[in-house]
Amino acid sequence: MNAQPGDIAHLIDPRGKSYLVQLKPGAQFQSHHGVIPHEAILGKPWGRRVFSHLEKPFLVLQPSLNDLLLRLRRATTIMYPKDIGFLLVNMNIGPGQRVLEAGSGSGGLTIALAHAVGSQGQVFSYDARAENQEVARRNVERLGLSDRVTFKVRDVSEGFDEQEIDALFLDLPNPHDYLPQTRAALKPSGFFGSLLPTVNQVSLLLDALESHSFAFPEVCEILLRYYNPVGQRLRPKQRMVAHTGFLIFARKMQTKETELHPTGDPHA
Ligand SMILES: C[S@@+](CC[C@H](N)C(=O)[O-])C[C@H]1O[C@@H](n2cnc3c(N)ncnc32)[C@H](O)[C@@H]1O
Repeated sequence: MNAQPGDIAHLIDPRGKSYLVQLKPGAQFQSHHGVIPHEAILGKPWGRRVFSHLEKPFLVLQPSLNDLLLRLRRATTIMYPKDIGFLLVNMNIGPGQRVLEAGSGSGGLTIALAHAVGSQGQVFSYDARAENQEVARRNVERLGLSDRVTFKVRDVSEGFDEQEIDALFLDLPNPHDYLPQTRAALKPSGFFGSLLPTVNQVSLLLDALESHSFAFPEVCEILLRYYNPVGQRLRPKQRMVAHTGFLIFARKMQTKETELHPTGDPHA
């Protein structure tokens, strides 16, 4: 579909600098390479070059979720696309599901979850701090995903309103304290996930998962290294994000089954 009012356009200037611009009839994009009226993009196909009034060429692309997530307004650290991508497949998050997360933070994960569950699904997003959640809410709104997200300002120690949730992700420092609340919200065999920056926190969580009858624990780390995409001089880029966090996953089981396979590894 051609570019529509409200869509976000990814403009790349002659020096390779990127800009995300929400398209509005009558508005103008301005940079030191010149002015581009949004009308030059609206109603036209993506993937073209447009010229500013200074005759400078800009590429116009439809942004990927990766482009959008890395350029979100932030109140907190956000989850990185490399971690989000893996958790979506590992927790089987897809169209029509009801998923829950805490905390909302800046809405990085919220946006990816809302994208994955589609128009028939729903994301429930909790945060104890209203000012953080407000940033998440605005980021979600800007991408037109508000219908898919229910925000709640609450400390998760007070529990969740929802039950029979398909997947629940805790991106906060002490998930080991909230496993009774997590069990109460998840459906049997539902997916639990968390992201933690230090091994000490992971150890606490693993012990707590065991004592709260979660099964099939997994701990992993996603390392992503980009290469300079030049065919004849192909080599890794010198910089990389070396550490974001450890991902921890487990499944909610009924006590009986858990006793049969207390720490079973489904991938062994
Ligand atoms: C690292 S941020 C989450 C980032 C988010 N996943 C993203 O991708 O933008 C952690 C958030 O958890 C919230 N938080 C910490 N402890 C909490 C609790 N007990 N209940 C609810 N929210 C909590 C904080 O206020 C903060 O906004």
